[in-house]
Amino acid sequence: MQTAFTIRPFKADDLEEVMRINRACLPENYSPLFFMDLYERYPSTFIVAEQEGDLAGYIMCRIETGFSSFSLLGIAKKGHVVSIAVLQKFQHKGVGSALMRETMKNMRFKAQECYLEVRVSNLPAVDMYKKLGFDIVRTTHRYYADREDAYVMAKKLKTKDNTWQV
Ligand SMILES: CC(C)(COP(=O)(O)OP(=O)(O)OC[C@H]1O[C@@H](n2cnc3c(N)ncnc32)[C@H](O)[C@@H]1OP(=O)(O)O)[C@@H](O)C(=O)NCCC(=O)NCCS
Repeated sequence: MQTAFTIRPFKADDLEEVMRINRACLPENYSPLFFMDLYERYPSTFIVAEQEGDLAGYIMCRIETGFSSFSLLGIAKKGHVVSIAVLQKFQHKGVGSALMRETMKNMRFKAQECYLEVRVSNLPAVDMYKKLGFDIVRTTHRYYADREDAYVMAKKLKTKDNTWQV
């Protein structure tokens, strides 16, 4: 039988393991200071998934103020997913979706929208974001260091009748 995973807040002790997952899964890697800065400034949206004591994945975000992805002139508070990764052996088991839902749940007190960049070739990730209610709002050409384009995908965290949707 498959063991369930736990979703919990990141703690400083997780840093080494989160950096290992980041390096194993993504070409965009960061310094320890970068991870800890996001943790210190936005602790409620830095989340990890754990299975039997092993970390399976993480998500870390930033809260920003900027142009809304949904209205041309509006300024919005936006949750920006800076990085999310799930180790290959834990992938396609619901861990990534659970990390996204938990971070959006915590983000909703501080932001009206959530957005992220994703490589146009990263079909599993694009698919996951679509299933979570994200739309492709634009393409940023040559966004990545290897010049690949990024889709910017965004989701409103609040509906017209003022209820939260995550
Ligand atoms: C993208 C990523 C975080 C998804 O995490 P995950 O735990 O595998 O995702 P989930 O199990 O919650 O899958 C949700 C949906 O994503 C899509 N998906 C996930 N893995 C997939 C795969 N290997 N092939 C095709 N679709 C896939 C499916 O639509 C899936 O829904 P389904 O289970 O109904 O088929 C993970 O694949 C990963 O870490 N990839 C490497 C790093 C990365 O690309 N990060 C995102 C950068 S923007």
